[in-house]
Amino acid sequence: VLMANNDVSVHGIWASRWIFILAATGSAVGLGNIWKFPYMVGVYGGGAFVLVYLLCIVLIGLPIMLAETLLGRRGRQSPVNTLKSLAAQSGGSSKWSWAAMVGMVGALFILSFYSVVAGWAFEYIVAMGNAEFGGISAGAAEQRFAALTGDPLRLTLWHTVFMIFTAWTIARGVNAGLERSLRVMMPLLFLLLLVLLGFSMTSGHFKEGLVFLFHFDLSKVPDGILAAMGHAFFTLSVGVGSIMAFGSYMPKKTSIGKAVLTVGLIDALVALTAGMALFPIVFAAGLEPSAGPGLMFITLPYAFGQVGMGQLFGFIFFLLVGVAAWSSSISMLEPAVAYLVERTKRSRALVTTIIAIGCWVVGLGTVMSFNILADARFFVADEAGWHFFAWTETGGKTFFDSIDYLTSRIMLPLGGLCFVLFAGWVLDRDVVRAELAMEKSRLFPVVYTLVRYVAPVGVMIIFLTELFK
Ligand code: PHE
Ligand code: NA
Repeated sequence: VLMANNDVSVHGIWASRWIFILAATGSAVGLGNIWKFPYMVGVYGGGAFVLVYLLCIVLIGLPIMLAETLLGRRGRQSPVNTLKSLAAQSGGSSKWSWAAMVGMVGALFILSFYSVVAGWAFEYIVAMGNAEFGGISAGAAEQRFAALTGDPLRLTLWHTVFMIFTAWTIARGVNAGLERSLRVMMPLLFLLLLVLLGFSMTSGHFKEGLVFLFHFDLSKVPDGILAAMGHAFFTLSVGVGSIMAFGSYMPKKTSIGKAVLTVGLIDALVALTAGMALFPIVFAAGLEPSAGPGLMFITLPYAFGQVGMGQLFGFIFFLLVGVAAWSSSISMLEPAVAYLVERTKRSRALVTTIIAIGCWVVGLGTVMSFNILADARFFVADEAGWHFFAWTETGGKTFFDSIDYLTSRIMLPLGGLCFVLFAGWVLDRDVVRAELAMEKSRLFPVVYTLVRYVAPVGVMIIFLTELFK
């Protein structure tokens, strides 16, 4: 019975066709939308970045998500073994599985810093619960955040707590507890963003915020272009195999096209809503939109401190940020856990524990990059030339910035490029068509062109632009 049915994976199958959408949305909607997107828009100058980001989502991100999902469902194993077996079936080289290996490691790198930032949200859940921000000044909110990031032990504590959450969920398997809580948490997150949006509309600076978010200055485009593409990958969770892993648990009857469009739409909506909610508050507080990673952790506590019941909303908001981060972090662990379970035949719990400890250790680098190792910089260019590493207060990238850069700008796009090339050029056209259930659809040539040409060429052009600018 088991072998006759293609709805089988050793790790499990989602209980219904909707669970893939739920899990993939849980993976996609995370710190990338609520924390990273607004501050990147700030740093890269507003609408130009947003425009390139949206183009990258439609022309590159969604085709890759489609490719990953269908590869996963066809292969029914961890991303590495899925590519291996599909390559064997299609007469392709087994070397393709290296792309999944790189992606898998990239996902673990992301988890290492994601956990630290999610830990900030945990700190703020407690702080809001203690009503620490009532009537606070913007400057004091800034200092509160600086005090947190300046304290390596406190950061490590929260980083540890978050990593345990993530590992515990993955160790128990993705189905039961997770699916049920996500059904409640995801709509709640959305609702809270809308409440926040309502608050910012009454802040008196809503228009200023909108103008900042959507007004574009073409001169800023070249600067933000690779950043925008990198973020499109990050926000959709593509290029690392997370979506492929979730796709491998997808029942046959689920429509991949609809699922991918739904996930992409919700992800973009959440990011834009977060931006629309945040920037008016930034302006109302007299803060700078280019504040960087601290943006959400400074402006929001300040804003919540100014309104009635603000501390309560703040508490719920950071709770949901924590949940959004948690539903994403598990998807970063899944490809590696699934792979090692298949390879070593050890228990899921053991494999998860070992990988999580490894990620935790790497995360300590991010913890210290905000304090004791703030001057330890990589990729430093100065008058004396280029150095891989230097001690300096200016220039180069901290450990956190380096890992973020390496994953978002290089590993994710490269992984995504390989996945989409594999689906477009190695897999049989009929297999792709059947997997998408588009045998009779006249849209198929459009979709196939996106997968075969548009997405790969797009990634390559952006890489070359970066190289020669
Ligand atoms: N998409 C997640 C976010 O926006 C981050 C993520 C990246 C999740 C890669 C899984 C894999 O926060
Ligand atoms: Na996202």
